[in-house]
Amino acid sequence: MKKKATVLVSGGAGYIGSHTAVELIAAGYDVVIADNLSNSDRTAVEGVRAITGVDVPFVEVDCCDRAAFRKVFEAYDFDSVIHFAASKAVGESVRMPLEYYRNNLTSLMNVIDLMRESGRSNIVFSSSCTVYGEPEKQPVTERTPRKPATSPYGNTKQMCEDILRDSIAAYDGLKGIALRYFNPIGAHPSALIGEQPRGVPQNLVPYITQTAAGIRECLSVFGDDYPTPDGSCIRDYIDVVDLAKAHVAAIARMIEDRNAERYEIFNIGTGRGVSVLELVRRFEQVNGLKLRYKIAPRREGDIVAIWADPTRANEELGWHAERSLDETLAAAWAWERRVREA
Ligand code: NAD
Ligand code: WQD
Repeated sequence: MKKKATVLVSGGAGYIGSHTAVELIAAGYDVVIADNLSNSDRTAVEGVRAITGVDVPFVEVDCCDRAAFRKVFEAYDFDSVIHFAASKAVGESVRMPLEYYRNNLTSLMNVIDLMRESGRSNIVFSSSCTVYGEPEKQPVTERTPRKPATSPYGNTKQMCEDILRDSIAAYDGLKGIALRYFNPIGAHPSALIGEQPRGVPQNLVPYITQTAAGIRECLSVFGDDYPTPDGSCIRDYIDVVDLAKAHVAAIARMIEDRNAERYEIFNIGTGRGVSVLELVRRFEQVNGLKLRYKIAPRREGDIVAIWADPTRANEELGWHAERSLDETLAAAWAWERRVREA
């Protein structure tokens, strides 16, 4: 296959970044991974290499260390960056706000600055549906107003979107796309890469798979008295491989100059809301097992329901969520079993 271009993937040793590296390579791009391994390790890079058969370059570097990060910009010839590097735990961000503001804002500002200084053009930024807060109307479109953030983490995503928007307005050579991910879940079908939370998982699917594996005793379903059909919260769970492909589409759009505006925002979700109890049941059915779970009190800060209107991504990026929830939940379980066997 003819090589297309090289993409720098910051945070590429992480969950979404490693899956995106695989899809970029499958689509004919060269990839350079930069990561400080603060929430990951080299096994994900090894996984990317094993899946693709490509000896993907990996640089251990902190994006907040501008001098060190500049060396990556000097050493590799790329025109596009996908910036995943960030701290992402909502609860931790409440306890350690300064660490979150420093890491998430500084790393993005350094990326933009180094791109500007070295004449690089295209950036994709990892944003989140968290910027919508508790929406008044479902599904949410990109025009749905953002609500004041309910955590320092959520605030960093709003602030980073604004930093990117304003920088692109000010610097002619720069183009950018912010992808607002809904709830990424699942793993690569090879089970060579997947989500590996440190400590007790805060997110639903890793908690489910660890409960099924016997590492956690029992899943707590946070609330069954919400105003939803079964009383549990509703989210839009997006397969991580589908999500990875949205990044490839975003990069291609900018490289091929098909972007309508120099700064664009896309929701990346399935368009389907699924409740916690529905997800638990599907996980049990598709994997042929019983999960120990109990109804627990509501978790503070949870929103009742949110799902995406992905029409803009469908029409403009030519991207659609393809994998079924069952395939995704089977892949999540296959990954968990492989991690436990290793
Ligand atoms: P992750 O923690 O698995 O990956 C992030 C990677 O960035 C890690 O490998 C970490 O070591 C690295 N990193 C962090 N700070 C760094 C720094 N200063 N310099 C270099 N590397 C650094 O998380 P993920 O789930 O893959 O998330 C990727 C991005 O997507 C993040 O920006 C996150 O906020 C965003 N996002 C995630 C979700 C989700 O639910 N997973 C949802 C919406 C948005
Ligand atoms: C999903 C549902 C819980 C764990 C978070 C961030 C958001 C974005 C995605 C980055 C909720 C319920 C969970 C458990 C449960 N990340 N749950 N028992 O809260 O939608 O979003 O990740 O940008 O910013 O806030 O995801 O996986 O934590 O929860 O019942 O042990 O599962 O109450 O309804 P959430 P989640």
